[in-house]
Amino acid sequence: MNLSDMRKSYEQGGLRKADLHKDPMAQFNLWFTDAKQATEDNHVESNAMTIATVGNDGQPSSRIVLLKELTEDSFIFYSNYTSSKAQQMEENPKVALNFYWYSLERQVRIEGAVSKVSRKRSESYFKSRPYESQLGAWASEQSSEIPNQDVLVKQMQALRERYTEGDVPLPDFWGGYAVTGLRYEFWQGRPNRLHDRFEYSLNGTNVWSIKRLSP
Ligand SMILES: Cc1cc2nc3c(=O)[nH]c(=O)nc-3n(C[C@H](O)[C@H](O)[C@H](O)COP(=O)(O)O)c2cc1C
Repeated sequence: MNLSDMRKSYEQGGLRKADLHKDPMAQFNLWFTDAKQATEDNHVESNAMTIATVGNDGQPSSRIVLLKELTEDSFIFYSNYTSSKAQQMEENPKVALNFYWYSLERQVRIEGAVSKVSRKRSESYFKSRPYESQLGAWASEQSSEIPNQDVLVKQMQALRERYTEGDVPLPDFWGGYAVTGLRYEFWQGRPNRLHDRFEYSLNGTNVWSIKRLSP
């Protein structure tokens, strides 16, 4: 396999400052709608995003989670509050998100602050999950070592006996996080690596400034 020959020309389109919405969340919503439309036929999860966290040890760590709600100013995902990422976000509530929509040749980067959502919001999302996913949240001590898969199978069996469908409570160690962006970047691939990049930043004011960045 020759990795140096793996090369793709990005031809889908361009991005001009004049095309951009002045509010980055509105711009994100436009691109997210495009991504959902572009991927709905091939079962690609356009709501999959990478979240990077850095704890006290200064070591960055990243993994994919699913965007489950968008508010006026935040990106909400759900996870285990005792996981490695949870520990890191507790130590340092600054995170970075990354979306890559391959077929559109678009990337969105968001840097900002993270906080837990209200129990009410987590409860209402938890209720909307399928029964088995609700039990899965209970069954997994996310990020801790387990001896084998069997432990999870047995745990799920015990949980099925303990809780009937429609009756699974929200675990107190599980819930949502909201990421509020302080810096956004919208990236559109262009031929010859002359990609379009626009950065939104707040610069201490309440008004977003938009800059074109060199690719
Ligand atoms: C497509 C995809 C979607 C995922 N969605 C979530 C999610 O929404 N929440 C979550 O906690 N983990 C999700 N995961 C698992 C995480 O990537 C990760 O393995 C897990 O959260 C443990 O990470 P940590 O040990 O760094 O805390 C997903 C993984 C993939 C590949």
